[in-house]
Amino acid sequence: MNLNIIPVKWSDEGVLMLDQRLLPTEEKWLTLTTYDDVAKGIKDMVVRGAPAIGVSAAYGIALGAKSFVGTNIDDLDEEIDYVSGVLAATRPTAVNLFWAIDRMKKTFQRARSEGKSVNEIKQILVDDAKAIHDEDIESQRLIAQYGGELLNDNDTVLTHCNAGALATGGVWGTALGVIRGAVDQGKHVAVIADETRPYLQGARLTAWELMQDEIPVTLITDNMSGHVMKKGRVQAVVVGSDRIAANGDVANKIGTYMVAVLAKRHGIPFYVAAPLSTVDLNTPTGDEIPIEERDIREVTHVKDIQLAPDEATVSNYAFDVTPNDLVTAIITEKGVARAPYIESLKRQFED
Ligand code: MRU
Repeated sequence: MNLNIIPVKWSDEGVLMLDQRLLPTEEKWLTLTTYDDVAKGIKDMVVRGAPAIGVSAAYGIALGAKSFVGTNIDDLDEEIDYVSGVLAATRPTAVNLFWAIDRMKKTFQRARSEGKSVNEIKQILVDDAKAIHDEDIESQRLIAQYGGELLNDNDTVLTHCNAGALATGGVWGTALGVIRGAVDQGKHVAVIADETRPYLQGARLTAWELMQDEIPVTLITDNMSGHVMKKGRVQAVVVGSDRIAANGDVANKIGTYMVAVLAKRHGIPFYVAAPLSTVDLNTPTGDEIPIEERDIREVTHVKDIQLAPDEATVSNYAFDVTPNDLVTAIITEKGVARAPYIESLKRQFED
């Protein structure tokens, strides 16, 4: 394994993002010099995946503060509120976005109450954004370790969407972290990747990412997953999440619910891997998780090729919610949580 994919980086010039819209055919890095560019990068899916969105938003706030001109702390406070609002309006489902914004705002308020100057606060915010990034990578390393132990030698794991290094601060990933963890523990693990219509994160990103690490991966269309399970080709399903409610209901890429139902039908364990920054104890159940709806062009077209009739009525839900009774376990940086999740998830925050 190479373990060297880091999709977002801080630099003196601004935030560097690997443009995930172009993968796998082109590896191009963008330098985003304003918080507005970062917000646009999140909205337009230059960067995507819940933890990666959180890390990017933290860097966006640091950029916003850095470009603030003046010495008045009230004005900086107002600016940070404004920048946070712009970043928060990008994508509604992944709670890591709101978690990171909230943490950066608290860091600002703490520094302010300690009497720091505007210049000192600018540096404190850059440092905290970098700390959020480092902590995210460390969380994925632990998820990899705990989750890897749940897999057996010679298992084939089915995954949906891309919950890899590309979707996080980098290196391990969540669902792909579990697979990398098992490989790191000396097991032979192969992957079946759903292509993940309509945005094709599985085909474009998961297949690419696993091939970089020389982990065997077979790409299938989403409608093949039932068939491969029935044929006995899948020993575990591992997915990531954009938001886990307090009761363990899991929002993740559209189609995840379908895979979970199929896994239950075939007696295959269905694991969810996510850092605690994805667990939202303030959202009691999956019913309260906002589900993003995206441009219908993602469904009617592939790039510039039109697939559907003009003016067809189309829905494009980006996420769905898998009820907790279909979830075998949730793997976080604190360990493996099992039902009843209302208790086990809460306990992980207290540890
Ligand atoms: O729309 P995306 O590509 O941002 O959706 C990503 C997913 O659904 C991932 O599975 C989830 O964010 C977990 S990433 C570790």
